[in-house]
Amino acid sequence: MQNFKNTLYLVFLCAGLSCVGLGCQQAPEELPPTPVEPSRLDPHSWSNPEAAEVRHLKLDLKVDFEARILSGTASLQLVAPPMDGRLILDTQDLEISAVSLLDGTPLPFTLGEGNDALGQPLEIELPDNAEALRIDYRTSPSARALQWLTPEQTNGSYPFLFTQSQAILARSWVPCQDTPRVRMTYEATIQVPPPLLAVMSASNPTERATDGVYSFHMDQPIPSYLLALAVGDLEFQSTGERTGVYAEPAVLSKAAWELAETEAMVEAAEELYGPYAWDRYDVLFLPPSFPFGGMENPRLTFATPTILAGDRSLLALIAHELAHSWSGNLVTNATWNDLWINEGFTVYFERRIMEAIEGREYSEMLAQLGYQDLEAVVEELGATSPLTHLRLELGPEQDPDDVFSDIPYEKGYFLLRAIEETVGRQRFDEFLRSYFEKYAFQSIDTEEFLSTLRQDLVAGDASLESELLLDAWITGPGIPPNSPVVHSTAFEPVEAELARWTSGTAAKKLHTAGWNSHQWLHFLRHLPKPMSLEQMRDLDGAFSFTTTGNSELLNAWLLHGIANSYPPADPAVEGFLRSMGRRKFLQPLYTKLAETPEGLERARQIYQTARATYHPVAQATLDGILNP
Ligand code: BES
Ligand code: ZN
Repeated sequence: MQNFKNTLYLVFLCAGLSCVGLGCQQAPEELPPTPVEPSRLDPHSWSNPEAAEVRHLKLDLKVDFEARILSGTASLQLVAPPMDGRLILDTQDLEISAVSLLDGTPLPFTLGEGNDALGQPLEIELPDNAEALRIDYRTSPSARALQWLTPEQTNGSYPFLFTQSQAILARSWVPCQDTPRVRMTYEATIQVPPPLLAVMSASNPTERATDGVYSFHMDQPIPSYLLALAVGDLEFQSTGERTGVYAEPAVLSKAAWELAETEAMVEAAEELYGPYAWDRYDVLFLPPSFPFGGMENPRLTFATPTILAGDRSLLALIAHELAHSWSGNLVTNATWNDLWINEGFTVYFERRIMEAIEGREYSEMLAQLGYQDLEAVVEELGATSPLTHLRLELGPEQDPDDVFSDIPYEKGYFLLRAIEETVGRQRFDEFLRSYFEKYAFQSIDTEEFLSTLRQDLVAGDASLESELLLDAWITGPGIPPNSPVVHSTAFEPVEAELARWTSGTAAKKLHTAGWNSHQWLHFLRHLPKPMSLEQMRDLDGAFSFTTTGNSELLNAWLLHGIANSYPPADPAVEGFLRSMGRRKFLQPLYTKLAETPEGLERARQIYQTARATYHPVAQATLDGILNP
């Protein structure tokens, strides 16, 4: 893998040289008759970037809310024409009406069979010298990247559309080389019904266009999974010089209040690992059906409104998406088997930002909760499961989203923290700064990370090498023995009060004044299992968990509610499951319900009507639990 890039450059160089002044007279080779195979470089793409990389994309799309279709053209510019005249792109459920040169000359193309996970390869025959082409196409109403919302599913009275391209969904709305190994710049013209506003992972408007036509450009090269579009009744409010929020009018001022510290976060991040490379950092709050907490679309993080707790207590999520501006968007995982390169580094960076802003005690709470998540996911997947390796070995039949877990996040975090604690923070920070600089706007796989770590940090120190246990982390299961164990002093009073409560003190008598939501989460996670109805009532009477506006706490509480058949939880669970589409909450709650026959019955009943309100990504996960 590691040498591929060099080989690729050589190929480009030769291709480029042979074109200079020679009129590119390579003999056209015949298309091999074999069916398209997944890329040698990325098991989750059909594309052949080793033959020709897409360097620039120009989208011209019309958004049709009635038909739930995007239609128009994608024009692709290649760095050099493929030597065998064959370009393969990824698509999924796209209707391709024509492929042509930019002057309109039609080009022969075929849509291969493909598979369920990867979609269909679009094979295009290009004449010699062709460095640009145009594809006329439309999306399917069931495109997996797109969620079309009715006005009832929003906070206003207009329909809404948003995309979610990571991991391999971009191909369902743009024909592209859908692999994080390839980067391109892009520009777009998007036509929407006025008065709606369109925003993208690009330069963005702050005012509505009366004709509904918006133009965008993204001048820094990005991988396809960072292509993003949202259309709705959106307004903008500034929160700082480089920062601001977009949201529906009913949510805007609440969102701007909650995110008032964003500019300070950008500054803290720059202080740690170097200049912010993307000009602006804005956050778009989506309607509640957004399936993730956040998505690091460049220049414009997409976020769930479930972090608007009203007390700025869930901002680590913004720190996380901001941190991706370095780890992920600048230095990108080469394949989805290397996801920890994006997510593990980002969790590490997120906690460093939170430490800079809120202090060490605060970030240690996040880290300890993270360790609990790590233990839970290892327990769930099994201590010897290959899915607990940092580097995964998924093949082309397996959608990376189907095995999404906390492993790349928390095991990745604890590896980096183990390195930090072994070599010292100063030395590790120097390494990270040079890492972000060295690999900016490139994609690297786990092997490349290891080789740069060994070269730039370990530097031949044999005892350091053996102390780090890198193989155990990367290709071994479970939690390696040199993992740091976190002990947050802020959780000590929580544990003391828990002990008082379990030994009979009434909940109302506990000393909980001034606890923040992480302390409450720690409390909720360590309640006894099972609890009696009397105990549940005692807690709820004192702390009103069933009606809390904090989504993290509600989720944790309702899990106890279901497990202990606590009657007031019934309507609350149903209300929560119908009010938002964040997979992180839907998945455990539906799973918990499904543990008993009556619960499964109820879960299926709720899901039957709620399913249509969830994003295809969440639907796929929940279908697996409830198999409707
Ligand atoms: N990039 C991820 C979301 C993602 C990962 C989407 C893999 C599809 C495939 C995003 O940055 C993320 O990690 N979101 C988390 C929040 C975070 C604070 C852990 C989420 O949505 O819960
Ligand atoms: Zn992330």
